[in-house]
Amino acid sequence: MSHDHGPHHEARLAHDRSTIKAMLGYGRHFFELWSSDINAVVVDLADPQPGMAVLDIGAGLGAATFVAAGRRDVQVIAVEPMGFMRNILKARVAGRRLGSRVTVMEGTGEHLPAETDSIDVAWMVNVVHHVSDLGEAATELIRVVKPGGRVLILDEDFADETHPKFEQMRKRHHQHDDVDENPIAIDFEMLGNHLREAGFSEVIVQADRLAGVPTRRVAATR
Ligand SMILES: C[S@@+](CC[C@H](N)C(=O)[O-])C[C@H]1O[C@@H](n2cnc3c(N)ncnc32)[C@H](O)[C@@H]1O
Repeated sequence: MSHDHGPHHEARLAHDRSTIKAMLGYGRHFFELWSSDINAVVVDLADPQPGMAVLDIGAGLGAATFVAAGRRDVQVIAVEPMGFMRNILKARVAGRRLGSRVTVMEGTGEHLPAETDSIDVAWMVNVVHHVSDLGEAATELIRVVKPGGRVLILDEDFADETHPKFEQMRKRHHQHDDVDENPIAIDFEMLGNHLREAGFSEVIVQADRLAGVPTRRVAATR
């Protein structure tokens, strides 16, 4: 019997370990990834109209996707880099018989699986802190969004002491250095500038309470 302990085997093990770590990390947040008030508010704010093409970037388990697709006859592309999350998304699509409205695709904010000028509304909820290159993400957004189309990028502000999870996030931030565990580092003014430079107009950066939690967000129109 031969055992493959070559570089491919090592890479496979490293990949499996990081997937298991991610599953355990996100597992703690399973219920809020399934459904959350903040995602429902984002869909209200973005307000996709019947017939529109919507991009939920970093869709997770679909907390925003299923609100949008359950409410209106829209076409949602749920973009998610992690395979185990895409599998759950696909099971949810099948379970809710929303296959005509929701497509689950692999991708990231830096590499969007959407045609040029194809999207009416794109949003990212609690995702932008994972994006390694904000300029690249802005360039991708302007590519896929139609003229007149809109973008909404929102993070809960876990660095605000009034956030109910402030202490929990602060402790985790001290325990881990990796960005997945440190969702508090994005400068939204800078993100707004990246969107302006990419060609978006009406770029509005705001910090306010939504669904009972402090948030930071940027909205833009192409
Ligand atoms: C905190 S979860 C938020 C999920 C969902 N948007 C929500 O609000 O419930 C962050 C998600 O971003 C995804 N993600 C990580 N890196 C990403 C990237 N570069 N581009 C897009 N999504 C990414 C993760 O796999 C995860 O599903």
